[in-house]
Amino acid sequence: MSTKHFSNDASAIVAAALRASTYTNPSLALSPSQKTVILCDDDGPSQHAVALLSGGGSGHEPSFAGFVGRGFLSAAVAGSVFASPSAEQVFRALKVLGAKQPDRSILVVIMNYTGDVLHFGMAVEKARAEGIKVEQLVVGDDVGVGRKRGGRIGRRGLAGTVLVQKIAAAAAAQGASLDDVRKIASQVADNTATVGASLAHVHVPGREIVPDELGQDIEIGMGIHNEEGFGRVKTDLSGLVSTMLKQLLDQSDADRAYINVAPSDEIVVMVNNLGGISVLEQGAITTEVVEQLATTYKLTPTRLLSGTYMTSLNGMGFSITILKVADKSFVSLLDAPADAAGWSPPVRPENWQRGIDTSKSRDIPDAPPSETEDDNSPPSNLTIDSQLAASRLAAGLSSLIAAEAQITKYDTLVGDGDCGLCLKTGAEAVLSHIQSSPSSDAIRLVRSIAHVVENSMDGTSGALYAIFINALASGLQQSAASSGKQQVTPQIWAEALKAALASLAKYTPAQPGDRTVVDALAPFVETLSTTLSLQSAVDAARKGCESTKGMEASLGRSVYVSVEGWNSCPDPGAYGLVKFLEGLLQ
Ligand SMILES: *[C@@H]1O[C@H](CO)[C@@H](O)[C@H](O)[C@H]1NC(C)=O
Ligand SMILES: *[C@@H]1O[C@H](CO)[C@@H](O)[C@H](O)[C@H]1NC(C)=O
Repeated sequence: MSTKHFSNDASAIVAAALRASTYTNPSLALSPSQKTVILCDDDGPSQHAVALLSGGGSGHEPSFAGFVGRGFLSAAVAGSVFASPSAEQVFRALKVLGAKQPDRSILVVIMNYTGDVLHFGMAVEKARAEGIKVEQLVVGDDVGVGRKRGGRIGRRGLAGTVLVQKIAAAAAAQGASLDDVRKIASQVADNTATVGASLAHVHVPGREIVPDELGQDIEIGMGIHNEEGFGRVKTDLSGLVSTMLKQLLDQSDADRAYINVAPSDEIVVMVNNLGGISVLEQGAITTEVVEQLATTYKLTPTRLLSGTYMTSLNGMGFSITILKVADKSFVSLLDAPADAAGWSPPVRPENWQRGIDTSKSRDIPDAPPSETEDDNSPPSNLTIDSQLAASRLAAGLSSLIAAEAQITKYDTLVGDGDCGLCLKTGAEAVLSHIQSSPSSDAIRLVRSIAHVVENSMDGTSGALYAIFINALASGLQQSAASSGKQQVTPQIWAEALKAALASLAKYTPAQPGDRTVVDALAPFVETLSTTLSLQSAVDAARKGCESTKGMEASLGRSVYVSVEGWNSCPDPGAYGLVKFLEGLLQ
C-alpha cells in the first residue's frame, strides 16, 4: 500500500468527506450517486427566492460542500479530486433545487476552470430549456499569472470565489431578486484579487509519489491543482508577502492591476491556508500580511479572515485575497450569519468596531516585575563573600553554557531537543544577574536567582529549578532565623539543600532511578550533608549521572522515545547539572 495518507482511495475519500458534511451539519442531505450536498430544509415559506449553487472538483474543501447551509450555498456538486463534476450531476442538482420551489431562481457561481465552465454551462443551458430560471457567474480572481502570460488560459478562480458566494448568498437570503444577486456577485468578483504561493506541489491520494522538484524554491501563483504559477523565488516570508501584495495592489504593473485600491478604500482581507500550513505558521503569515498592508500601503482591513477556505488538498501554501469594499453592503452581507460548517468568521461583527490596531497602541504594557529582589525585606542573618560567590557561580554557569551543544545532542537522542537551550538561556540570565547585582546577603542572592530562573527558563526544567532554588532560599531562611549574623557554612548549605530536595519531591515524583536530573541532584545533596565536601558531592552527582546511561525512563518525555544509541547517552538534565557543579569546583 502506498504511504502517507490515511486512505489511498481518492474516490472513497471524496464519498466519505461528502458524507461527513451531513454529519457535521444535519441540515444537509447527500445524494451519494450525484456527489451532491443540498440544504434540505430551505423550502419553507419564508425562504428566499434565489438559491445559490456551486461546485467543482474535490480537493478544495471546505469548498464547496462545507459552505452549504442557511445563509450560504443551497447546494454543492462535487467531482472527483481535481476534476469537474459532469453536466448531468449539475443538471440534476439544478432540477432538485428548482423543483423544491417552482418560483425560485438559481444563481450558479463557479471558478474559472475549463471543465467546470463547460459542464456547469451545459447543465445551465439544459435547465433553462426546462423552464428553470438560472444564471451563471464565473469567478477568476487569480492575479498570479498576469494578462500577457495568462493569455487564452485567463484568470483562474481561487479563494476569492468564496467571498463572492458568501456575499451573494447573504443578499439572496435578504430577499434580493436574481438580477440583484447576480449584480452584487459580479461586482464583488470584479473587486476581488487573489494570489497564492506554495512550497511544494500537492499529492493526490492513490497516485504515485514523485519527488517534488521545487526544492527550496517557493512558487508564486501556483494554482490549486498544481498549475504552474508566475515564477519561483528563494526568499523569506517578508520578501514573499511583499511580492504577493505588489502583484495584488501595484497600479504601475500594467500586466496586472486588476483592482485599484487607495488608502482611503476599505478592504476585506482573506489569508487562506491551502491545506497544509500549520495553524501556527498561518498566524505568522497573517501578521506579516496585515503589517505590510499597513506600512507599505496604508491599508487596514475592515474585516480579516484567516483560515482554511479553499484548499488544494494538503497544499503547503497560502493565498492572500483582497476584496475592495466598492459598496458598503459588501461588509454587512459578509457579516450576515451563515450556518455552514466550513464558514468560520472568527468573531462577531461588533468586535470589528474597534478596528485592527497595527500601531499596537492597545498592547498591554509590561507589568512591573513580580516581587523582584525582595529589596524591602530586612537583611538576613546569613552572609557570603559576594566576590567569591559571584566568581564560583560564574564558573559553574559558564561550564554549563559551554556544555549546551553536548546537552542538546543528548536531548535530541532521548528527549525533544530543547533541554540544552533551555538550560543555557537560564544560565546566561543568572550569569548576567550576578554580575550586575552581586549581593553579600545569601538569602537575597538565592531568592533573586530563583526569580531570574522563573523569568528566563521555560519548560519543565525551568519550573523544577525555580522551585528548587526558591526552596533553597526558604531552607536558608530557616537556619537564619536562629543563627545570628554569620557566614553561611557548608553545614547550613547542606541542610538548606536537603530541605529544598524535600520540597522538590512535592512537585515531581522523580526519584533516583527515573532517569531525570534527580539522579544527579539527590546524590549531590546527600553526599554533601554526610561529608560536607563539595568535591565528594560533585563526584557523587557525576556518578549518578553516569548511572542514567541505559536507564529506562519512566517519567518525562524520554518515556516516549526509543532510539538507537541512547544506551550510551546520559540524561541530558542530569548531565547539565553535573557540568554546572563541576564548574563550581574550579
Ligand atoms: C476565464 O478564462 C477564460 C479563458 O479560459 C478567459 O477568457 C476569461 O476571461 C476568464 N474569465 C474570468 C472571469 O476571469
Ligand atoms: C537573626 O538571628 C537572631 C538570633 O537568632 C534572630 O533573633 C533574628 O530574628 C534573625 N534575623 C532574621 C532576619 O532572621
